[in-house]
Amino acid sequence: MGESKDIENLLKTYNQEHIVKMLNNLDGDAKDKLIRQIEKIDFEQLTELYENTKKEIEIKENKIEAIEYADKEKLTEEQRNIYNQKGEEIIKNGKYAVVTMAGGQGTRLGHDGPKGTFKLDVYGKGKYIFEILTETLKEANKKYGVTIPWYIMTSKENHEATQNFLEKNNYFGYDKNNIILFQQGELPLLSLDGKLLMGKDMKIKEASDGNGGVFSSLRSTGALADMKERGIEWVFIGGVDNVLAKLVDSTLLGMTIYKGLQIGSKSVVKANPHEKVGVFCKMNEHPKVIEYSELPSNMAEEVDSNGELRYGESNIACHLFSIDAVDKISKEVLIYHTAIKKNSYMDENGKEVIPDDVNTYKFEAFIFDAFDLFDDMAVLRVKREEEFAPVKNKEGADSPKTAKELYENFWRGFKK
Ligand code: UTP
Repeated sequence: MGESKDIENLLKTYNQEHIVKMLNNLDGDAKDKLIRQIEKIDFEQLTELYENTKKEIEIKENKIEAIEYADKEKLTEEQRNIYNQKGEEIIKNGKYAVVTMAGGQGTRLGHDGPKGTFKLDVYGKGKYIFEILTETLKEANKKYGVTIPWYIMTSKENHEATQNFLEKNNYFGYDKNNIILFQQGELPLLSLDGKLLMGKDMKIKEASDGNGGVFSSLRSTGALADMKERGIEWVFIGGVDNVLAKLVDSTLLGMTIYKGLQIGSKSVVKANPHEKVGVFCKMNEHPKVIEYSELPSNMAEEVDSNGELRYGESNIACHLFSIDAVDKISKEVLIYHTAIKKNSYMDENGKEVIPDDVNTYKFEAFIFDAFDLFDDMAVLRVKREEEFAPVKNKEGADSPKTAKELYENFWRGFKK
């Protein structure tokens, strides 16, 4: 079979001979499926990603500066009114959409199922994370007299479970026609010596390509075209795991428009100079989120003339993009970061190997790397206790326990 020979040659060219042997041990449907999968792999890109794992990232060569931000608390009444009015006009006219990135694996939380299906133990009977997000959106809909289209990014791994969960719960009363699920892309995992891994299902092991995959998958799945058809002009993009996320904020939206910018984001003040969070800055004249691990210690501690940390605006993954910005970014290739993870695989003799230690490279794009494509962005500092209650870890910081407390404390002040 010529097709199979071509695939063999391709695998040999890219030093993946071990897969040839496994491929030849298969027949019929299983073999066909594996061939189809291998055909879709971009080996040139994979080779480049692997080579990048061997390169050191030299941050010191870059020019890093503080970024300008506005503190929501300190806006004048006039500024607040102007921003709100501008933002509300867009929302009321049905030109605003929300994207929730829910394609992550949630490995730290360890919940069996997509993170949105995790039930947070609030008010006795508890609420699912998706339920909380739906409530936030429904409230905004009521306030502005619209139904905001809600796009949920899933992964190959959790798409079906997410869809079934939402169906079963009747989309928590949200208009079904305004909830659009779309799947993000995947990239193969590589062993530390650059080899593809075979899974138990006799398919090459792949994993979601990071939350930065949101732009290209919005385009490839047709979700971006759907937004355009609906006349959407501004898109909020956030993670699934912040139960206090203000998904519809006319101030951030209006401020971004007023400043003539295409992207905006929220920050909270860094709790201490060495808190493990990414912070906003400008690198080589472009906005950026710099990871705590990449920020030199002296810079992390640097204070400005007001005695505030110069690099103290923490990223809480509440981002805003104009539709043109989404369009532009979706045509670009974002850089991939490498994570080292532990993954089981099948060896050449068909035996499953469960490693004791990390053994694989996983490649992930980060949404904030897209900021680099722009000259500037609007950053709005908000109060942590009002807008940031992440569910990341099973226990300790950013866990269901801390999120429950923050959520209940916040709503205690409101009559619902
Ligand atoms: P995190 O980086 O916190 O990852 O994702 P995670 O998968 O939720 O959790 P861990 O690291 O495995 O414990 C931040 C946000 O980005 C989404 C997540 O669903 C979350 O909302 N995300 C992450 C994606 O949508 N796709 C990805 O490939 C990765």
